[in-house]
Amino acid sequence: MLDLAQKWIIFCALLGSGYATCPARCECSEAAQTVKCVSKDLRTVPAGIPGYTRNLFITGNQISRIGPESFIGLENVTTLSLSNNRISEVESQTFSRLKSLRFLDLSNNQLAVIHPEAFTIQNQSLRDLNLSRALYNHSSIMDLAISLRWSSLGALQVLDLSHNSLILLPARIFSHLTNLRRLQLSNNSLVTIRNATFQGLERLEELDLSLNSLKTVSEEGVQELDKMPETMLVLGDNPFMCKCGIEPFTLWVNRSQARIRDAEELACAFPVSLRNMSLLEAGKLTLGCHQRDAGGDLVLQTSYVFLGLVLGFIGLIFLFVLYLNRKGIKKRMYEMRDACREVWEGYHYRFELDSDPRLSQVSSAADL
Ligand SMILES: *[C@@H]1O[C@H](CO)[C@@H](O)[C@H](O)[C@H]1NC(C)=O
Ligand SMILES: *[C@@H]1O[C@H](CO)[C@@H](O)[C@H](O)[C@H]1NC(C)=O
Ligand SMILES: *[C@@H]1O[C@H](CO)[C@@H](O)[C@H](O)[C@H]1NC(C)=O
Ligand SMILES: *[C@@H]1O[C@H](CO)[C@@H](O)[C@H](O)[C@H]1NC(C)=O
Ligand SMILES: *[C@@H]1O[C@H](CO)[C@@H](O)[C@H](O)[C@H]1NC(C)=O
Ligand SMILES: *[C@@H]1O[C@H](CO)[C@@H](O)[C@H](O)[C@H]1NC(C)=O
Ligand SMILES: *[C@@H]1O[C@H](CO)[C@@H](O)[C@H](O)[C@H]1NC(C)=O
Ligand SMILES: *[C@@H]1O[C@H](CO)[C@@H](O)[C@H](O)[C@H]1NC(C)=O
Repeated sequence: MLDLAQKWIIFCALLGSGYATCPARCECSEAAQTVKCVSKDLRTVPAGIPGYTRNLFITGNQISRIGPESFIGLENVTTLSLSNNRISEVESQTFSRLKSLRFLDLSNNQLAVIHPEAFTIQNQSLRDLNLSRALYNHSSIMDLAISLRWSSLGALQVLDLSHNSLILLPARIFSHLTNLRRLQLSNNSLVTIRNATFQGLERLEELDLSLNSLKTVSEEGVQELDKMPETMLVLGDNPFMCKCGIEPFTLWVNRSQARIRDAEELACAFPVSLRNMSLLEAGKLTLGCHQRDAGGDLVLQTSYVFLGLVLGFIGLIFLFVLYLNRKGIKKRMYEMRDACREVWEGYHYRFELDSDPRLSQVSSAADL
């Protein structure tokens, strides 16, 4: 009997000291209000994380899925890092009960499915969202675009989307992030900046587009960037193509030097003869708009080949149609021949009637 009572006492003590317990494989510091479960092969978010926690690091584990049930009773958490996991799906309202959440780090994951309200938080408190190297592939950007629209992220100030192999950004993807200050898009594969790409980012202070695949920035793109005149830009390490057509961009770079942090480091990557030449210097050259450069020649040759192929194809179709109509055409030819004969005979007849006697004399003379 006593034994049982003792067990009960221990059980109750454990319940009562719920605040002081710490989940297995985690380290908890009440003084620092911090819990760390780092590189412990966890497959889910552990239960029983103490309510005092403000900083929660569950990094370097094998977590693949998170949902609203993952974070219960954690209303004091301000910083949550789930980086270096295998998270592929974020459910709707996953973080919504983390009423104090300001910094959310999901970097180095494999997000393939992001539900529309994945980042909704009851108090709209989120300031900083790190999705660096977090998307599984380029397709995830469509989910993300919808989620950025539906998650009420009006207070978000920093968004890191670097290292994600993004090729194109959907128009207006950021239009609901009206308080965004820093947008990190470095080390993607962005090929162009289009109208409305950055719509809504009136307060943006810094936009990093370095290490992308921009060969130039079209006039549409330049206009788009000019809609954010206060934004500091980083554009380095793009494969700029210094040939005819880049001049409007180099002129714009010269004009905008004050707000392009690395304006002087921007360099041509192509053609090879101009590789590493500063874009600003290249802007002073006449870049083959009148005399063709190698790149232009190639383009020209390609277009000739293409033209040839198209003409050949049209020719083939023409021959085929002729072949299909061969009976009709033969008939038409006979008709035409007959018509010609008639005309010729009529003409001949008239000619003989009206023939000039002198001419017949000449011809008889020639015959002689
Ligand atoms: C959150 O912090 C407040 C103030 O520090 C505290 O009163 C409250 O109990 C904490 N919440 C939980 C679930 O522990
Ligand atoms: C959340 O918002 C409510 C009302 O807007 C406020 O009373 C509460 O203190 C906020 N909670 C936190 C943790 O910021
Ligand atoms: C996001 O996380 C990566 C690595 O996990 C880090 O290098 C980067 O600085 C973070 N971005 C921001 C804006 O804090
Ligand atoms: C991205 O991954 C999904 C799921 O595996 C796949 O269906 C889709 O085709 C991939 N998209 C690209 C652009 O590779
Ligand atoms: C850019 O991203 C790729 C793959 O995502 C990575 O291998 C490479 O190291 C990154 N480059 C830099 C400069 O960070
Ligand atoms: C860009 O988009 C705006 C509105 O979305 C439109 O009014 C404008 O005509 C567009 N400009 C170009 C160059 O397409
Ligand atoms: C261009 O510069 C890079 C580093 O700045 C260097 O490694 C490379 O050899 C240079 N290429 C040419 C063609 O000068
Ligand atoms: C930039 O433009 C100014 C005129 O506005 C011109 O004098 C200067 O040479 C240009 N600089 C470069 C590097 O092209």
